[in-house]
Amino acid sequence: MAEITCIEDLRRLARKRVPRMFYDYVDGGSWTEYTYRANEADFQRLEFRQRVAFDITQRSTATTMVGLPVSMPVAIAPTGLTGMQHADGEILAARAAKDFGVPFTLSTMSICSIEAVAQATDHHPFWFQVYVTRDRTFVEGLIERARHAHCSALVVTMDLQVFGQRHKDKKNGLAIPPKPTLRNLANMASKPRWCLNMLRTRNRQFGNIVGHAKGVDNISSLVDWTREQFDPRLSWQDVAWIKQRWGGKLIVKGIQDPEDARLAVEHGADAIIVSNHGGRQLDGAASSISALPAIVEAVGRHAEVHLDGGIRSGQDVLKAVALGARGTYIGRAMLYGLGALGQQGVSTALEVIRNELDLSMAFCGRTDIREVNREILLHR
Ligand SMILES: Cc1cc2nc3c(=O)[nH]c(=O)nc-3n(C[C@H](O)[C@H](O)[C@H](O)COP(=O)(O)O)c2cc1C
Repeated sequence: MAEITCIEDLRRLARKRVPRMFYDYVDGGSWTEYTYRANEADFQRLEFRQRVAFDITQRSTATTMVGLPVSMPVAIAPTGLTGMQHADGEILAARAAKDFGVPFTLSTMSICSIEAVAQATDHHPFWFQVYVTRDRTFVEGLIERARHAHCSALVVTMDLQVFGQRHKDKKNGLAIPPKPTLRNLANMASKPRWCLNMLRTRNRQFGNIVGHAKGVDNISSLVDWTREQFDPRLSWQDVAWIKQRWGGKLIVKGIQDPEDARLAVEHGADAIIVSNHGGRQLDGAASSISALPAIVEAVGRHAEVHLDGGIRSGQDVLKAVALGARGTYIGRAMLYGLGALGQQGVSTALEVIRNELDLSMAFCGRTDIREVNREILLHR
């Protein structure tokens, strides 16, 4: 196997190793995929201001996110079906994040349950992401389970109350477990490593839902379940209710507009995530990095502003921090690592990003990520 030097290498390897249906679930956006592409492309448009002749011997990428120490301003984003990229995917990614000193966020739509992740990481605190369902008792249950597992922050996602159509998922008939059609069976047969690992684990269902949500002992279609269960009436009062019930750090995810950012903070957010769900929901929305400055301007003095969407390198992280993000999240960069090489792949993704972040910061004449600001960018 050729040496892995960047996230793109991990993506190529993941494409070879992960069954088509699950690879496609990751590598795509909604409708025309304009926003999905813009998330990456708009990072490219920002240019650094190179500086020389500073003492750059001692450098640090360590900072905090919602008051918690992190070895670099990068958390793992919540992603559904992670345990289908690689058997026990959530557990492996959580372990890699723990070793690296960055937060891992578990999705409501994970394969491994809250309890399984807590146990497999020796109860090291992770973050939990909540989707608000019509059945509020289920939401209450999730919050209590997260508390019991010592989760150190709750992330509530606001931008998936209706589902942005992703053509590939529809065409592939995305289901858990995959339907045994001839096409699926033939494709799986070409991924023996994935199949073997999958046979060895018991985590093959939506671990947070099956057996926990009322009357649900089997869900095969993520799309159908979300369509039926996710509450389209989700409001700021629900955010305040969650904050009050949870009592700990609350991060509100899926913010694209300064006015929504203000409302999120008014209703209890300690941090907000500028996010368009990785270009998977409203196609035609602005890229996250272009939406960031106005949101920092609106709420940056009152709450932390985080960002996700399109981060494929440490340089992207540095640009987001320069424009005011206190922290960032990686979705696909982590999933490619996981699909390619399991836990080692997630560690490699984090190492690649930290290395790029550290060196780029040095080229800009800075030695401490906490002192990075707009001055490291040209045309600011
Ligand atoms: C395959 C996949 C599944 C996702 N599932 C969830 C989820 O369950 N909950 C959530 O809040 N966001 C989810 N997201 C969005 C991510 O948390 C994050 O916003 C996005 O991946 C960031 O963009 P990036 O992939 O370009 O880093 C998902 C993203 C991907 C790619």
